[in-house]
Formats: sequence, C-alpha cells, structure tokens
Amino acid sequence: MRKKLIAGNWKMNKDIHETATLVEQLKNSITPTIQNSNTPVDILICPPFTSLVIAKMMIKEVPLKLGAQNMSQHEEGAYTGEVSAKMLKSIGCDYVILGHSERRQYFKETNELINAKSKQALKHGLTPIICVGETLEEREAGVTEDIIKTQVKGVLSEMTSDEVAKCVIAYEPVWAIGTGKTATPEQANQVHQFIRKLVGQLYSWTVAEKLIIQYGGSMNDKNAAELLSQSDIDGGLIGGASLKADAFAAIVLAGMEVAKE
Ligand code: PGA
Repeated sequence: MRKKLIAGNWKMNKDIHETATLVEQLKNSITPTIQNSNTPVDILICPPFTSLVIAKMMIKEVPLKLGAQNMSQHEEGAYTGEVSAKMLKSIGCDYVILGHSERRQYFKETNELINAKSKQALKHGLTPIICVGETLEEREAGVTEDIIKTQVKGVLSEMTSDEVAKCVIAYEPVWAIGTGKTATPEQANQVHQFIRKLVGQLYSWTVAEKLIIQYGGSMNDKNAAELLSQSDIDGGLIGGASLKADAFAAIVLAGMEVAKE
C-alpha cells in the first residue's frame, strides 16, 4: 500500500520569526497525533528558502520532513540568485516542489525546464514533487487529459523507471488553487487514475502502482478526509490551510484515519 504524503506549501509566506511560531504550533498540534516516527503518513513542510534552516533545526526531534519550493536545474556556478540541489540537500531537505502552476504561470517554467530540474533533484537524492494540472479553460474545453498527458510525458522525459518511481506527482487543477473551489473527490480521482495508467503505459505497472500522486487545490480540514479516501489520491499538497497549524494537523489526522482503514 502507498504511504500518504501530506505536504504544506507555504509559498511566499512567513519570515524567520513567523516561521518559528508556526513550526512551534505545528509541533504542538501534530505531535500528540504522531506517537513515533512509524507513522502511516509522511508529513512535510515546505517553507521559503530563508526559513529552511530554522525549520530544520526545530523539527529535528519530530517526524516532520523538510522540502523547498523550487531550485535550479544547474549544478553550481554563475547563476545569480539561484539555489542548487546540493545546497538544499546540505541543509537537510528531502523534497523539492517543482513546476508549481504559479511558477509555470509567473516565471514561464516549461515542462522541459521542470524535467531538467527534476533530474537534477534526483541526482542529489531529493524527491521532486512535480506539479501538473489544467486551467479552467482547458477543463471546460474538454482537454484535461490531453494537457495532463503532455505535462506528465514532458516532465518525466528520458527518466529511467527507477527514477520515475522516486518522484512524486502532484495533480493540482489550476482553477482549484487558492480559489476555495476544490475538485470533487471523483473528479480528482479520475485524473489521478489517468496519470497512474499513463505512467503504467510509459514505464511499468510496478512503477505506476508505487507512484505517490498527491492532490492539491483548496484542500482543507473539511474536505481532506473525503479526498484522501479516494483509491488513487495518495496525499495532499496544501497551500492556504498549511499556514494554520490546527487545519494542517486536522488534515494529517484525516490522512492517518484513512490509512488505518
Ligand atoms: P491551496 O494551494 O491549498 O491554497 O489551494 C495549493 C498549492 O498551490 O499547492
């Protein structure tokens, strides 16, 4: 059975002081739920770059993992303003979110670039959480599957089966991000099944069965249980609700309940 992955994408929120407060609150809300590190869910927080080190220091004793929200496709060198996979690894990151729709939209990231970044992340032992998702216009035009297919093929291009098995895919319909509009559990699950089937065809069923596919887009403490209980939804990538310790803890708890069933 696939382990659920509940991840908080803090986006460009929380300075170092606010980070310390939120991490402390998270520890208080989540630790009673998690007795030891053998949890049936993996829990991840992805603060901004400037907060990664303090967050790492604060979560040493608790089973929370750390991820970044972006990184460079390059190894090192004259790339002013960029952060490398090696740097992230050296401060204790295990994951990195790549190709989020906000990066695709505002920073013109392409499938090709996201593919290069994902390979670079894997090379340094980071798990890439690779985001895909259609816009409202695309959904209404009935081309959701075509868009997802192009994105999945593009971001996983020229990876080996072993590499693909180490990736996480986050299905985030763009129209559901930060809008309060969630895909229905059935709508989301349908796309998750489509992605799994596609990976099965492109690579192998063994890889597809193992692949963690998260849902993201207005997931919160109210709708998490229903979304997470779908057959092919293996976790959540949570924006807004991850900034509130109680809401995030409730989503983690929902994941744990589902995992018990
Ligand atoms: P949201 O964001 O939960 O605020 O919709 C999700 C995301 O963008 O990853």
